[in-house]
Amino acid sequence: MKRELILTEDGSSSVYIPEMDETYHSRHGAIQEARHVFIEQGLRRLDQPYVKIFEMGFGTGLNALLSAIEAEKLTMNIDYVGIEAFPVEKKIYNALNYTSLIDGECDAMFATIHNVDWEFPAKINEYFTLTKHAVKVEDYVFEKESFDVVYYDAFGPRVQSELWSVDVLNKMYEALKQGGFLVTYCAQGQFKRNLKAVGFEVQRLPGPPGKREMTLAVKC
Ligand SMILES: C[S@@+](CC[C@H](N)C(=O)[O-])C[C@H]1O[C@@H](n2cnc3c(N)ncnc32)[C@H](O)[C@@H]1O
Repeated sequence: MKRELILTEDGSSSVYIPEMDETYHSRHGAIQEARHVFIEQGLRRLDQPYVKIFEMGFGTGLNALLSAIEAEKLTMNIDYVGIEAFPVEKKIYNALNYTSLIDGECDAMFATIHNVDWEFPAKINEYFTLTKHAVKVEDYVFEKESFDVVYYDAFGPRVQSELWSVDVLNKMYEALKQGGFLVTYCAQGQFKRNLKAVGFEVQRLPGPPGKREMTLAVKC
């Protein structure tokens, strides 16, 4: 899969897949979107000492980095599992400019996030443990009722509609604890109907700059 580095409107880099005409993040701002959708509307909803997060589509590692920084700030222990079917190559992740735009010393953290082995849990900082699995979500076997949060960061339904289907969303539902939730940038109508069909309670939330809405889905 050919990947190209691009610059988004907040000055942060992202990745573009020409054959899909799809980007890894919003063109309005990669960091801006990740912070809004996954940190502010996701992680920050929780006030508990231990949180287990599942990320669908680990990609550049941006969501993992922001979450690791947040774990330190909040002194919240985070056990983070990220899965990725097509890991980004070193020359791409080394060229991303995230650590120069995020406050604080996070160069070493970002390097560790990428350098640790796949398939094994690794301590990224005092509060944050990361396990990366190189696997398709369709093949990943979840422990039931084990996650507090799902960061659902797949490519959009236009290019990978199968990842927004009842079958895959049902896996997310089963993997979440009661009261747990899924957050995503996507607000497509069919996707929200699929979430409801699976049993989620669906809420529309204001999206990041440049996008009217995003979705929160709670397992009640
Ligand atoms: C929108 S991008 C993820 C962005 C990522 N969270 C980041 O911050 O860079 C979607 C990711 O899902 C991955 N992906 C595509 N199909 C997948 C599948 N079937 N299972 C798991 N990951 C998949 C892609 O390779 C890509 O890295």
